[in-house]
Amino acid sequence: KEYNVAILGATGAVGTRMIQQLEQSTIPVKNVKLLASAKSAGKQLSFKGQPVTVEETTPASFDGVDIVLSSAGGSVSKKFLPEAVKRGAVCVDNTSAFRMEPDVPLVVPEVNEEALKDHHGIVANPNCSTIQMVVALEPIRQAFGLNQIIVSTYQAASGAGQSALNELRQESQDYLDGKDMKADAKILPTKGDKKHYPLAFNLLPQIDVFEDDGYSHEEWKMIHETKKIMLNDMNAKDIKVTATCVRVPVPIAHGESIYFTVDDPTVTVDQLRAVLKDAPGVVLQDDPAHQVYPQPINAVGKRDTFVGRLRADEETPGAFNMWVVADNLLKGAAWNTVENAERLVANGLI
Ligand code: A2P
Repeated sequence: KEYNVAILGATGAVGTRMIQQLEQSTIPVKNVKLLASAKSAGKQLSFKGQPVTVEETTPASFDGVDIVLSSAGGSVSKKFLPEAVKRGAVCVDNTSAFRMEPDVPLVVPEVNEEALKDHHGIVANPNCSTIQMVVALEPIRQAFGLNQIIVSTYQAASGAGQSALNELRQESQDYLDGKDMKADAKILPTKGDKKHYPLAFNLLPQIDVFEDDGYSHEEWKMIHETKKIMLNDMNAKDIKVTATCVRVPVPIAHGESIYFTVDDPTVTVDQLRAVLKDAPGVVLQDDPAHQVYPQPINAVGKRDTFVGRLRADEETPGAFNMWVVADNLLKGAAWNTVENAERLVANGLI
């Protein structure tokens, strides 16, 4: 069977990568529709060398579509994905719109592929920072059990979309030209809040809006999505998770400093390395003697999650630090979405 695929948000930072990842995927594609807002209608993009004209998204856009890959923002997903499902499509959604719905699987194939079978037309892709963290931690959890996760993120500008990436470029240019960049920020830290600050030559400890308890919504997502993916319960108590999320002036690829404790206090760093070396989707880059460790510039364009800087907390048995990097637009978004669609197809779930 061949599939009609629609990409919703095809002109965005993630959408353009969804096109590339779909070109390279195992999914037999009959026809591809590239959907965006009215602003982009008529724009020419291409799929496998053939020109494709971008169309404005309407409910009728999903007539005859088998698979929807979407990354056009939560409100756009909320509006259009139920229309697509009504028309018989299966949607893999990269936005946060449906992630916490009880009947929507939240899936990272390396961790909980089996959850795909419970879909009712929508599968959610987790947040980019959550994805790379669970890819690195799930093999450790499987081997040794996991008690607690304390994560601090170093997140790239592109996680906030193409416009944030453009804003970082412009601010960097302005700064180097000796101009005042403070006046111009319009996007970061988040479109959803009132004030905006420059990211160039700066750090912003705000990703998404704040909750009443002082955590940012990005931090909330890392905590509750991790529990839903690993334990199938967004409020599970079996693993304690806490997070600090920071935007850094890097264009693409998120870094994460992760402190974690395992159930077995006798576990060694060598045992962790042995597990991670063979873990699906993980590339171990951990050789301090030769200054080998994951870096964003080396992760750009790769589907893998890179892990290094593994160290035992000498004062706490069973506690460790590690450093994890992945391309937030690929494993954190476009690739995980296409990978979920590949597994749906391979498992006969579409
Ligand atoms: P457009 O380029 O026409 O605005 P990013 O995450 O990089 O900001 O990209 C967001 C994507 O979502 C773009 O492809 C954008 O299309 C698309 N988009 C934004 N609003 C809508 C909408 N109302 N309907 C369909 N697509 C939308």
